[in-house]
Amino acid sequence: MILRLKEIKRPYVILSAAMTIDGKIATRTGDPELSDENDWREVHKLRSQVDAIMVGKGTILKDNPKLHIKFFKHKGYYRIIVDSNLSIPIESNVVNYQPEIYPTIICTTENVSMENINEFESRNVKIIKSGDGKQVDLTKLVLILSNMGINSILLEGGGNLNWSFIKLNLIDEMRITIAPWIVGGKDAITLVEGIGFKKMKQGRKFKLLKVYKRDNYAILKYKKRK
Ligand SMILES: NC(=O)c1ccc[n+]([C@@H]2O[C@H](COP(=O)([O-])OP(=O)(O)OC[C@H]3O[C@@H](n4cnc5c(N)ncnc54)[C@H](OP(=O)(O)O)[C@@H]3O)[C@@H](O)[C@H]2O)c1
Repeated sequence: MILRLKEIKRPYVILSAAMTIDGKIATRTGDPELSDENDWREVHKLRSQVDAIMVGKGTILKDNPKLHIKFFKHKGYYRIIVDSNLSIPIESNVVNYQPEIYPTIICTTENVSMENINEFESRNVKIIKSGDGKQVDLTKLVLILSNMGINSILLEGGGNLNWSFIKLNLIDEMRITIAPWIVGGKDAITLVEGIGFKKMKQGRKFKLLKVYKRDNYAILKYKKRK
């Protein structure tokens, strides 16, 4: 069990991703098949240790993941989707696949209609409104989640949501798998998208805790540098 650090009044956030040597988390056509079974086992182990897994709307639309655990016994956790306009299809796997084990929360904004909310709530999805801007207010959101007793979040992408977390300095730890190939493509999504920082010194800094090799994969673990 990963516990919230005493010094931060928000959940502890671990970014987990698999990328190619050239930093892509999917190909230009959206093929995300980077991990082998051993890597999935490790990711599922990590999932079993947190209170919630979070992904952005883009990942739901492109991959329709179940965000479940196949390899281990566990107590379940929340699946949290960040979707400003509550626009993911109601038939998505995160809404319908084993909600009794993995309750789903969709984080949205004040701009969403009650009718839309009612539709999702009728499928037992919890809706959280965070902010009234174009996109979900993540600073506010992490506090709301913390007040709900969510102490640890595994952030599983994609690139645009990762950027917002990086920009807001909300990532405490990272586990990155480097898969042994290169796919190229300026339109292939990278680990962190968004506009990016102007200067290298503005970039978020991490301490390398561990590097290990499994077959041709490299796994890197980082912690936020204070
Ligand atoms: N290899 C890996 O480990 C891995 C893991 C996950 C995903 N992926 C890949 O990543 C791709 C999806 O990434 P993506 O960047 O397109 O989508 P994403 O990061 O999953 O979702 C981004 C979307 O989330 C919504 N959002 C709401 N509030 C936000 C905020 N404050 N900041 C950022 N986003 C916010 C936005 O849509 P609205 O404004 O409409 O709400 C935004 O377009 C897929 O191809 C998937 O296969 C790979």
